[in-house]
Amino acid sequence: MRPPDALTGWDKETNAERYDQFTCDYPFYTVSSHDLVQRADLADTDLAVDLCGGTGVTAAAALAAMPTHGRVITIDNAPAMHVVGQRTRTDPRITWMLADAENVASAITEPVDAVLCNAGVWKTDTIATFAGVRSILRPGGRFVFNIGGGFAGLTASQRDPRPSLNDLITAIAVRDFGYTPALNDNTSPILTEPVVRERLRNAGLTLLAADVVTQHGTLEEKRAWLSIPLFARPPGRLPYDQRMAILEQAYREIDPDRPTATQWLVITAER
Ligand SMILES: C[S@@+](CC[C@H](N)C(=O)[O-])C[C@H]1O[C@@H](n2cnc3c(N)ncnc32)[C@H](O)[C@@H]1O
Repeated sequence: MRPPDALTGWDKETNAERYDQFTCDYPFYTVSSHDLVQRADLADTDLAVDLCGGTGVTAAAALAAMPTHGRVITIDNAPAMHVVGQRTRTDPRITWMLADAENVASAITEPVDAVLCNAGVWKTDTIATFAGVRSILRPGGRFVFNIGGGFAGLTASQRDPRPSLNDLITAIAVRDFGYTPALNDNTSPILTEPVVRERLRNAGLTLLAADVVTQHGTLEEKRAWLSIPLFARPPGRLPYDQRMAILEQAYREIDPDRPTATQWLVITAER
């Protein structure tokens, strides 16, 4: 089953457009994609599969590390993400395939050297996804993916005691917009390392490494990310323009030079 907190809305044109613009303006998804690419060891690969590939950021990063004859099949189940991605990333070595990650084994019929999944695996039914990956990977082929820290149950070792941008957004929404925070804030860990380890083993994949990676960014980048309608906060029923007013107010109340840190649990597995 897919996790109940998998975000929906990827097939809306505005989300796809704003997401793609974000990936062009800011390094967030490119940096995490390159991290996966390094771990996947693509120097001698002919074919890689990019799961939950969105607008092709990870596919482009993979191609840059592959031989010139290498190809990437990028799989996503949101047509809008592919429409936008095909405009931005026109490399003919990318094949755009509309499918659920869980159905990768039906979608791909040739042996694959490596599978990557940047910023997406926790939105899928990982039991089905891992089994599909196992059946398309050649022996020795790598499967690398990352899990957002909140979804992997990671906690920051040294948290800045000052309120974060998210804390301020919630406080302003409560103070000025009558917002009531939900009891379940949608970030309960669902894919902790032991869970991932067991699911990989059950799928017939071997865990090679599970690393915690901290990615540093700027508050301006975070503000741009929170402006993508899909990610706008607080969660719930406030209209987008109110959320943006709250975001701008929160941004005014915070030191804009404060660095941000995003944690990932990064998994390298092998068939
Ligand atoms: C945050 S984006 C990541 C895109 C890309 N990997 C990148 O780094 O820019 C997550 C993507 O996962 C896709 N997605 C979510 N659940 C999926 C599923 N079950 N099967 C296929 N794609 C899925 C969404 O449509 C979205 O494009």
